[in-house]
Amino acid sequence: MNPSIRLDLSFAKSAAVGPDHGITPKDLRALAPDLVRAHKALAADRLAKKYGFFDLHKDRAMLRDVKSLAAACAKHGHENMVVLGIGGSALGLTTLVTALKPPYYNLLDVKRRENRPRVFVMDNVDPVTFGSMLNLCPPEKTLYVVISKSGGTAETLAQALIVFSELERAVGKSRVKQHAVAITGPAEPKGKTTNPLHVLRQTYGLPWLTVPPNVGGRFSVFSPVGLLPAAMLGMDIDGLLAGCRAMDTCSSASSLARNPAYARAAYHFLACRDKGKSIAVMMPYTDQLRDVADWYRQLWAESLGKRRSLDGSRDDLFTGQTPVKSLGATDQHSQLQLYLEGPNDKIHTLLSVGKFDASLPIPGGPAGMPGIDYLKGRTMARLLQAECRATADALRAERRPVIRVELPIVNAHTLGQLLYMLEVETAMAGRLFGVDAFDQPAVEAIKVYTRQYMKQGR
Ligand code: PA5
Repeated sequence: MNPSIRLDLSFAKSAAVGPDHGITPKDLRALAPDLVRAHKALAADRLAKKYGFFDLHKDRAMLRDVKSLAAACAKHGHENMVVLGIGGSALGLTTLVTALKPPYYNLLDVKRRENRPRVFVMDNVDPVTFGSMLNLCPPEKTLYVVISKSGGTAETLAQALIVFSELERAVGKSRVKQHAVAITGPAEPKGKTTNPLHVLRQTYGLPWLTVPPNVGGRFSVFSPVGLLPAAMLGMDIDGLLAGCRAMDTCSSASSLARNPAYARAAYHFLACRDKGKSIAVMMPYTDQLRDVADWYRQLWAESLGKRRSLDGSRDDLFTGQTPVKSLGATDQHSQLQLYLEGPNDKIHTLLSVGKFDASLPIPGGPAGMPGIDYLKGRTMARLLQAECRATADALRAERRPVIRVELPIVNAHTLGQLLYMLEVETAMAGRLFGVDAFDQPAVEAIKVYTRQYMKQGR
């Protein structure tokens, strides 16, 4: 099946915003040899299974394991599911929940939640928030999903240690395994364990699933990291993976004209290198996709913000493009003044939806209200769509480049397409920027400092 999401680059071209700010045919011609080289390198890496995210949608064994563990966990009928994880271990699931579960999901009664648990994604170590979650979710009614690829991230470990101690107290050590599962890197040889989460899961005999070693945290949404909790919530995980497959049919093509992921990577790279656009704004015009912008913020920042070149020859690149998340129409009344009249240093992505799940007619109101004819008899859906069009037009008129991405509707299939496209885009952008999009040395450095400060005991 072909992807149904639509990419419109016209407002990012020189014909729309001028050659100083938009991409010219000459720019694209000059980049073509680099794109060909980058495509070949990525295709070879994929073939060599260096980056596993490309092919997660084909992994039938993984899907079977996810479904069977989700079904086993569901038998316990937990009222709450609390996910412990940070960064790539949390943002993907949050994105799926916001897009595919109804708004205010946790406030719905159990019937309207279709007997599924409430969901809490704990991606920080704020003691006030975490303590409140513990009060709200009694351990005996809760399933904890502990997610850490390395198994050694301080934040997730601290959360897990607190939770396991609470669980032991509430249900006894032998029943902890009915209340927790682990998702982490592969098992290690006996006596050579470097992953603390493996010790925890062995201690309690927890069910667990593997994050494939060749899948990085921020590229892991379609691995058990995103799929197990998604399945527990009754999301259409087959649809998500089918969406990835549909996008893969064109995001693996070499030609820019056929490949929306490469086209976005090329436009962002050229905008950054040649047109002074050091900032990439993503502005969804639907609440359902608001966390896509947050997820993409991590993907783009952590993948491209690098000092070292991919070939190791340079340590002074200091490259990348700052991702900014925004929300339409809310941020029209906050950020848009800056986007329109501030420095022309941004390339914008507007995400829109063809058809909302609800349209919500706007009533006429009492007679005599001045100047509201344009609202009367229209719908809220139409208002949001009109605002998106208006923002695109206003940005274009001010010579600010805009890429528009439209989803016909928000569902598992279109979301799978969108997220997969953004992953491939990031992989290609890494090649164009000349950096390793799959490491995060500076994040690792912070983990080391944190451990040191904690050891000092002050
Ligand atoms: O993208 C990444 O690799 C990081 O953001 C990690 O997801 C994050 O640091 C958490 O790591 P871990 O899953 O090992 O706990």
